[in-house]
Amino acid sequence: MVEKIKEEIEKLKEEGIELLKSKNLDKETLKSLRIKYLGRKGVLNSFLKRLSSLSPEEKREIGKVVNQTKVLFTALIEDKEREIEKIEAQKRLEEEKIDVTIPGRISRVGYKHPLNVIMEEIKDFFFGMNFSLAEGPEIEDDYHNFEALNIPKDHPARDMHDTLFVSDNVLLRTHTSPVQIRTMLAQKPPVRIITMGRCYRRDAVDSTHSPMFHQVEGLLVDKNVSMGDLKGILTAFVKRIFGEDRKVRFRPSFFPFTEPSAEVDVSCGICKGKGCKACGYTGWLEIMGAGMVDPEVFKAVGYDPSEYTGFAFGMGIERIAMLKYNIDDIRLFYENDLRFLSQF
Ligand code: PHE
Repeated sequence: MVEKIKEEIEKLKEEGIELLKSKNLDKETLKSLRIKYLGRKGVLNSFLKRLSSLSPEEKREIGKVVNQTKVLFTALIEDKEREIEKIEAQKRLEEEKIDVTIPGRISRVGYKHPLNVIMEEIKDFFFGMNFSLAEGPEIEDDYHNFEALNIPKDHPARDMHDTLFVSDNVLLRTHTSPVQIRTMLAQKPPVRIITMGRCYRRDAVDSTHSPMFHQVEGLLVDKNVSMGDLKGILTAFVKRIFGEDRKVRFRPSFFPFTEPSAEVDVSCGICKGKGCKACGYTGWLEIMGAGMVDPEVFKAVGYDPSEYTGFAFGMGIERIAMLKYNIDDIRLFYENDLRFLSQF
């Protein structure tokens, strides 16, 4: 009898070991196996119930074997549980894995407007030459825009400035030169300023004209300022903006507020000065007006022309940008098309 029970337990043990060690056991199956073998009404306990007819010695013997088997199964089940836990944790990690090699989403940044790029380059140059920035209003009066600049009411130069009037005496500035007047009225010489901003003229819109455009103006006043200073600074400036290989030319011209006056040309970058369609077959591109400040202007602002001399210059920023970047239509500056703006 005892031997038979022992044999049965041995068989059960072998079967149990095999089952509990098998791969692919899931949590649920393991749980049901635990109940089957170790449960209160489980197989192992059922052996103990059959012991009533046995001697105490025999009971002890079988009890010992049953307990050893319980201990063994418990250990096997715990091993398996740990194994399943490990596999599940591994699976969770796989699922939650972050692929750090996936490229990030790149946030789009804006672009500088080409006119701002040019304005910054211009500022950079003149700040390096110890000029500072002056400002003035876009809505001006006749006095600062014309009169004080030696352009009296009947002066033919007014024809060149198709003016947008706000009232008889108030207008949208046609150039940045009134800032020269405001600066000189506000301070004593020496003066070394640049100013930049919007100007307005009653022009019809086409590829080279816009009723609103931008200018940069410069003014230097001191004792013993000569035409040589003007040529030196402006030549260095043009070469900085367009490149050291470009040539600069000063051509006699006329402005009511400068005497003598000059128009400044840069050699054409497309034909290298040989002459082509872009430069009207002259080899040169006109980029700014300049000259020695007219004594009449000094008188208007209360500077003594026998003590001080100076030079002034003015240029259109759109024109500079168009020539530098080969842009053939001024309207592109005002449309804010990103395909255009992203190129500078
Ligand atoms: N104000 C002039 C214009 O708009 C340019 C200029 C400025 C010329 C200063 C000479 C000196 O045409």
